[in-house]
Amino acid sequence: MAGSRLDLIDPPAGRLLVVGGRPGDVAGLDPARVMIAQGFRPDHDALAAAGFTVAPGITGPAEAAVVVMPRARAEARARVAAAAAVLPVGAPLWIDGQKTDGIDAMLRDLRALVPVEDVQSRAHGKIFRLTVPEGDWLPAGWAARETVVDGFVTRPGVFSADGADPASVLLAAHLPERMPSRVVDLGAGWGWLAAQVLARPGVQVVHLVEADHTALDCARGNVSDPRAQFHWADATRFRLPAPVNGVVMNPPFHAGRAADPQLGAQFIRAAAGLLTGAGRLWMVANRQLPYEPVLAESFAEVAEIGGDSRFKLLSATGAGQRRSGAGRPAAGRTKGRR
Ligand SMILES: C[S@@+](CC[C@H](N)C(=O)[O-])C[C@H]1O[C@@H](n2cnc3c(N)ncnc32)[C@H](O)[C@@H]1O
Repeated sequence: MAGSRLDLIDPPAGRLLVVGGRPGDVAGLDPARVMIAQGFRPDHDALAAAGFTVAPGITGPAEAAVVVMPRARAEARARVAAAAAVLPVGAPLWIDGQKTDGIDAMLRDLRALVPVEDVQSRAHGKIFRLTVPEGDWLPAGWAARETVVDGFVTRPGVFSADGADPASVLLAAHLPERMPSRVVDLGAGWGWLAAQVLARPGVQVVHLVEADHTALDCARGNVSDPRAQFHWADATRFRLPAPVNGVVMNPPFHAGRAADPQLGAQFIRAAAGLLTGAGRLWMVANRQLPYEPVLAESFAEVAEIGGDSRFKLLSATGAGQRRSGAGRPAAGRTKGRR
């Protein structure tokens, strides 16, 4: 099997910054001299466990850098601009990306601005090098810019950066008029859904749990309500000291580019682990995703409460009291846990 394209580069001595590097990208690099900017919590934690120095954002200085391209073009450009900004003039800057993430367009765009060298292809992608020139060589539009939609601020690359996601809008319209007192929003993004929950009576605290550091940062700015608590965390492992009585979620169903309904299943199990027996989950999902059997494994009652041709709205209660026990709580769970 072909290795990572980052194995093809020969950086100079000194600190190498890798922006957006994931565990598979950097496995061949020396952790002692690599600093990785990785804002996605599961990848961040896996890299740290492998011995790398990792931070959620870009920090300098460095003698050389690699930008691993994300899928969103504006985010990819912002990464190049931010990496170049922490390098000295004359430093090498590599750009690495999959064809499907737009590496050819990036190569074309950069060739129009600076000399590009050492273009190498491997594993359905390319890596190439430029040398940071003097002066303002990148168009001003490449730097990360915020978008303001209906009073909410988003940044390039976050989920649904152009405005509220239609599935979340549908879910919010079906939430009860009065919400439980302690609510978790699993995969809270830039905070739109949590803000709708906080607008309803009854809520004392909403925990916004999000793995994307940039999205959570936006949420902190968007949701200034003191009842909001923010957690940069992997929702599938998230725990609180005490159970809550409401969970809302529009779970992700992609891991990278590939559709992965297992991720939604893990979110469902995490929701069940956070809720009291009397607590309730409200979730929205693409209609074709088979989440009902997973819900039935973790909850006593599951119901479809609405939807349209694209999305279904599911609600569940009785965490830890699944039907196989004839309505009785499963062994090891406390009945009526609150
Ligand atoms: C479909 S979006 C919903 C976002 C937001 N609730 C909304 O309504 O706009 C799913 C969110 O889950 C986040 N996410 C993906 N994997 C995650 C994980 N393991 N832990 C926490 N959040 C995750 C994504 O970054 C994304 O913001």
